[in-house]
Amino acid sequence: MRFIKSLIRQQKSDQRKISDLFDDSERAKDFSIKAAGIFLDYSKQNISRYELSQLLAWVKNKGLDQWIKSLTSGDKVNVTENRKALHSLLRAPLKTKQEVLGKEADEVDKTEKRMFEIIEGITEGRIKSATGEKYTDVLTIGIGGSYYGIKVALSALTPYHCTGLNVHVLASVDGAAVEDKLKKLNASTTLVVVISKTFTTQETMINAQVVKRWMISRLPLEGVIKQQWFAVSTAVEKVKSFGLQDSHILPMWDWVGGRFSLWSAVGLPLGLAIGNKHFSEFKNGAYQMDQHFQQADFEHNMPIIMALIGLWNRNGFDFQNLAILPYSHNLRSFPGYLQQLDMESNGKSVSTDGIDLLWPTAPVIFGQEGTNSQHAFMQLMHQSKLIIPADFIVALQGSNHLEKNHKILVANCFAQSEALMQGKSYEQVKSELTPGSTLTLAVHKVMKGNTPTNTLLMKSISPESFGALIALYEHKTCVQGFLWQVNSFDQWGVELGKELGTHVLNKIKGSADNFKFSASTSNLIQMFVSGEF
Ligand code: F6P
Repeated sequence: MRFIKSLIRQQKSDQRKISDLFDDSERAKDFSIKAAGIFLDYSKQNISRYELSQLLAWVKNKGLDQWIKSLTSGDKVNVTENRKALHSLLRAPLKTKQEVLGKEADEVDKTEKRMFEIIEGITEGRIKSATGEKYTDVLTIGIGGSYYGIKVALSALTPYHCTGLNVHVLASVDGAAVEDKLKKLNASTTLVVVISKTFTTQETMINAQVVKRWMISRLPLEGVIKQQWFAVSTAVEKVKSFGLQDSHILPMWDWVGGRFSLWSAVGLPLGLAIGNKHFSEFKNGAYQMDQHFQQADFEHNMPIIMALIGLWNRNGFDFQNLAILPYSHNLRSFPGYLQQLDMESNGKSVSTDGIDLLWPTAPVIFGQEGTNSQHAFMQLMHQSKLIIPADFIVALQGSNHLEKNHKILVANCFAQSEALMQGKSYEQVKSELTPGSTLTLAVHKVMKGNTPTNTLLMKSISPESFGALIALYEHKTCVQGFLWQVNSFDQWGVELGKELGTHVLNKIKGSADNFKFSASTSNLIQMFVSGEF
């Protein structure tokens, strides 16, 4: 990372205006990449041709090539859990799976086929509820990686919902969330899918118990849970003890991390909404991006260029945040999804070898759909002291018939990246002041500009292009993890909260527990127990 800093210092990159880089008439064309149905324009980044070439030379020396081979060929890159990280293999043809997994590929293939059969059986009405009715609703219970991917894909692909099933996702342990879902459901036509890699996650287990009780009380029929419940998990025995039958349990693989798992049977609820054909297209879009990632040279490699730009901004310029701004209502959950993918993967400060890192890693990711963001936090992006790089994401064609709305949406998207780059100087503002306005107002209207952004275009948000978009960010995240030298595939940082949560619960329930909390937490527990403050 010292190299990136010194390059910026040497080139005085922090003192130039991004807009001046456009004196190079070929810049917009050359600082762009097209791959797997996605167009990336990164010309509004504060990086010159020379700096980019230096960065590419630097990354080639780091052995990234070798690491990509090692990742995709099944080396145990997840060193702290002694696991492979082969999520992208789930998108590959069977032959590739066999080359990498050997015999295990048959299990993976069998599971995919089983999932397709289940989707067909349910959507065609052959797999019926305990009362013999066709299902109308699916309730998915899961959290983290067993939730975000499904949630974002369900809303991104809304126009492709074609099975007639309403798929609902439940994650939060707040009873309000579960009550809210159950209010809308009819037990005799609701299929439940529990998704949990470990089948021990507290929130998921509690919610599953609540829904199980609700279903049994509404449908006191023999074997109702066995009939109406499916699960996706690595812990098959635990699922069976919960009351599910073998044929309703789809396995997950320990070599697929939760936040990378949408391509596995975790995608079952998505398939139940969009059908098998669209689900295959979704995987195929991701596969096209995988092929690009593995084959394109670094100069034209979209995930690698995005990863390098991320490091340039985070470690070179010290920008601490990254705004994700989809100009698409259907992509409204994308910032939340990326928060888990990126921050849970790379929000670390120890190297894979256990050494304290001398550089910061993942930026804070936040965002919201445009144009809503323009009426909220974008004020800060335009005028505060903070420079916040952003990724704009937009589709050329809207997913609705309101063309005028779509034109306005796209116009706002393009205008924002231009405004963030150009800003408005004091001189400009002054020259625009209407006669009679006080000069003091001018300073309030200055826009700092010089904020670097990417723009990602898709022709439309289709299963293919959305699959490619997810794969793009997955690869970007993993490449950054490699360059920062962290293990992108573990998440030890979530453990302490879980551990202390157990002690707090013990105290609340009055169970024996000697854990010593701070006076602050003890007071809070006391107030909760007494219901007074
Ligand atoms: O938040 C921690 C985490 O372990 C995530 O990585 C994971 O996706 C989530 O909890 C849910 O875990 P599970 O699928 O085992 O219920």
